[in-house]
Amino acid sequence: MLQHALKVSGRTGSTLIKWMDKWAASSLNTTDPWMDKWGASSLNTTDPWMDKWGASSLNTTDPWMDKWGASSLNTTDPWMDKWGASSLNTTDPCMPAQRMKTLDQMPGPTTAKFAWDLFARRGHCRLHEMQVAGLKRYGPMWKASLGPILTVHVAEPGLIEQVLRQEGQTPIRSDLSSWKDYRKQQGHGYGLLTAEGEEWQEVRSLLGKHMLRPKVVEAYDGTLNAVVDDLISKLQLRSEQNPRGLVPDIASEFYRFGLEGISSVLFESRIGCLNPVIPTETDRFIESINTMFVMTLPTMFLPNWFRHICPKPWVSFQRSWDYMFEFAKGHIDKRLAEETEKLARGEEVEGTYLTYFLTRTGLPMKTVYSNVTELLLAGVDTISSTMSWALYELSRHPEVQESLREEVLSVMRDRRVPGAADVARMPLMKAVVKEVLRLYPVIPANARVIADRDIRVGEYIVPKKTLITLCHFATSRNASYFPNPDAFQPDRWLNRDRGHHPYASVPFGVGKRSCIGRRIAELEVYLALSQILMQFDVKPDPGAAAVKPMTRTLLVPEIQYTRLNANWLINQPGIRLPHQIGCLGDTWRM
Ligand code: HEM
Repeated sequence: MLQHALKVSGRTGSTLIKWMDKWAASSLNTTDPWMDKWGASSLNTTDPWMDKWGASSLNTTDPWMDKWGASSLNTTDPWMDKWGASSLNTTDPCMPAQRMKTLDQMPGPTTAKFAWDLFARRGHCRLHEMQVAGLKRYGPMWKASLGPILTVHVAEPGLIEQVLRQEGQTPIRSDLSSWKDYRKQQGHGYGLLTAEGEEWQEVRSLLGKHMLRPKVVEAYDGTLNAVVDDLISKLQLRSEQNPRGLVPDIASEFYRFGLEGISSVLFESRIGCLNPVIPTETDRFIESINTMFVMTLPTMFLPNWFRHICPKPWVSFQRSWDYMFEFAKGHIDKRLAEETEKLARGEEVEGTYLTYFLTRTGLPMKTVYSNVTELLLAGVDTISSTMSWALYELSRHPEVQESLREEVLSVMRDRRVPGAADVARMPLMKAVVKEVLRLYPVIPANARVIADRDIRVGEYIVPKKTLITLCHFATSRNASYFPNPDAFQPDRWLNRDRGHHPYASVPFGVGKRSCIGRRIAELEVYLALSQILMQFDVKPDPGAAAVKPMTRTLLVPEIQYTRLNANWLINQPGIRLPHQIGCLGDTWRM
């Protein structure tokens, strides 16, 4: 069992100076274009990218594409020196069509082998490893079929770039057929995750105004800090309640933290996930997300008729969604009722929360419900997984932890609660989170479907409507792009000499359909990590085993479980406050 402990730390000014020598100078000199554009300055109010692109990023013409799409072909781009030539050579745009290969010529496992690997060898929990194995065995592109779905895997940054550059005005992520089937069957609307075409574009533009603009997102720091304060208190309380001072199962606190954080942004009210006594409905919501993600793969890949023969996967998938929609609707209706009462009393009603804004856009309530449900869902595992992995790696790298703590303390001086402007001045914090997401991308494989035309990718013609799986885990763990790829080395993001291919690690996706919650997520994680580090040391138990990632649609810490749908939260990472030993999870037993 891997064990971790946190203890309150005291720091001195002299170590701050050391830290500055070590990290600050180089971080200010970075020339990594991705880092310049998105990373270091992403929370900075004076971010030039934001000045330039922030407002216009809501336009239908994606400024990112203008910026990177065109200029990435420019030979004066620093990363082009290193990666450009190779990535452009993988597809010669002038190659005559007759010399291009078809899917029939693409390598890949037989359907029987793919099914065997997925289900008999439990590859569905190790889809990320299957990406790496696929790359090694078949090269950067291979195909695999299961049930009604044929998918082309793309595992090379230059090729991923080619796919994304051809994604069109309203990109389609994937059919997510079972997610859509559920909505059709139950008469629900689509949210941002599932909507397509103009329907998606309309909501994306509306929500973008509130979720992509740095100034608007920065204003959520007070709301998020209130949740972070409760997380810190909860960890302290849990530690005091444990005879050994442990906080076992810390991942469950991070799940609740994620849900509380996104709820506070969506509803501007608290739902009690971090209270000493947790409302049962919040844990049920989290469990529903888990079950839904576990059941996504079987319900997508198995043909519809199979639902009649073996209804269990579909039934638990459906029940999970039912509960998630019910939970979101309950909270939205409650908030709207509170406002109606206020109006009736002649009081002014105004709000900065997202649901308030959405209900005033004229969108049908069905669309508001589905969007809020999907935003709630998107804000839980993403945050909790990133927090768990960040603490895990920091505990195993005390020197990085110490440097990061010193960075936080040097920015904060005598203040206790950091704001958005503070975390914007923490380059190592950003590098740590980037490195965590490189090693453990929450969404290890993304997808695109180009519906209206065949496209050229590498030496292949990929027919329209083919599901293209973008193997982000494989690219971000590839030694060609990240030397010593399995090592946690945040300084690789700070060192100006190491330009990374801009598509080699893209944990939030790229372009028009990229993560709309990115800025909120980053702010939330930075604020939480800052406060945790200001209050606790994170220590591993010597002799504890390493925790590996596993896929459950998303990439999460590997856990001990005995049956599908078991309580996922048992034995996940834990922390412990001063003095004693804490527990950070168990190895996955299969
Ligand atoms: C560390 C945290 C997170 C990571 C790594 C992450 C990653 C991603 C990725 C890879 C995508 C797909 C992008 C694409 O297809 O190109 C995505 C989409 C999305 N994410 Fe996140 N996400 C995170 C947090 C959040 C949070 C907190 C929210 C909600 C506030 C959120 C809401 C969404 C939504 C709604 C979409 C769909 C966007 C669209 O289709 O237009 N995400 N995210």
